[in-house]
Amino acid sequence: MTNLIQRPRRLRQREGVRALVREARLAPENLVLPLFACPGEGVRREVASMPGVFNLSPDEVAREAAAAFEAGVPAVILFGLPESKDETATGAYASKGIVQEAIRAVRRAVPEMVVVADTCLCEYTSHGHCGVVRGGEVLNDESLELLARTAVSQAEAGADLVAPSAMMDGQVGAIREALDDAGFEHVAVMAYSVKYASGFYGPFREAADSAPAFGDRRAYQMDAANAREALREAELDVMEGADILMVKPATAYLDIVRAVRERFDLPLAAYHVSGEYAMIKAAAQRGWIDERRVMLETLTCIRRAGADIIITYYATEAAKQLK
Ligand code: PBG
Repeated sequence: MTNLIQRPRRLRQREGVRALVREARLAPENLVLPLFACPGEGVRREVASMPGVFNLSPDEVAREAAAAFEAGVPAVILFGLPESKDETATGAYASKGIVQEAIRAVRRAVPEMVVVADTCLCEYTSHGHCGVVRGGEVLNDESLELLARTAVSQAEAGADLVAPSAMMDGQVGAIREALDDAGFEHVAVMAYSVKYASGFYGPFREAADSAPAFGDRRAYQMDAANAREALREAELDVMEGADILMVKPATAYLDIVRAVRERFDLPLAAYHVSGEYAMIKAAAQRGWIDERRVMLETLTCIRRAGADIIITYYATEAAKQLK
């Protein structure tokens, strides 16, 4: 017999033992389900590039949220497709705006559910950029005022957390100050601190009808090649009062998730974005991969990299598998 003292396989023989020594745990409580609210009643329109994901009227948003909650998912993050768009994103901060209506619908239907509102302008601007545009430029400081107004109106509608995703400098500070001035000091900010300019957002832009009409988002979202800059972005958000940090996308950026986890003590979220979901779906539909297995493996690996919270279109399905 060979004299092997170290045999890692000893702990891999049975599921019970593997479970005992498992390091990262994926649980329904880690998951947040994104939902897309659109006007109307009884509307469920499937997004072509995201099978299983729908544009939903507020009543259907509430129904989908209830199903997620039933499966053990504690939170939703809401996006909106407004009736009409304009240069100043009026629909983003209208008291009867589509996200505001969806927030109220979820609140009514599932009072215990945590409601996160994505705070951005791109779904509401006619040009599809995340801020105010003048002379072909996305203006930073003018956009802050609109983002702050949007966050306050989301808080007024009942959001527990607001999640600024526009990548404007100073957005967390501007939103924190506006929330506090309006008496919403208890509303938390989940900052999209490290958001890369990514091709993986393609299907989302179909789902949210938010593709930029000209140019791209590289003048405000981060360059995929940069890691040190990610820590600088996260640090600024910590200083501006963020309560939760986020890295986005997730799977191609697990090194960034790990780096942010190691440097900062705040809770950390990772967004498993639309293109990451669509790739698994597409391969699974062709029978090339086992969807259930790849889904759970992917989400577990995001946890292993250091994320406390995972935002994923698979939230309800994964939660059901984990029960
Ligand atoms: C809004 C926003 C986007 C996503 C989340 N918030 C789109 C973008 O920046 O173009 C992408 C989410 C996804 O792809 O699932 N700015």
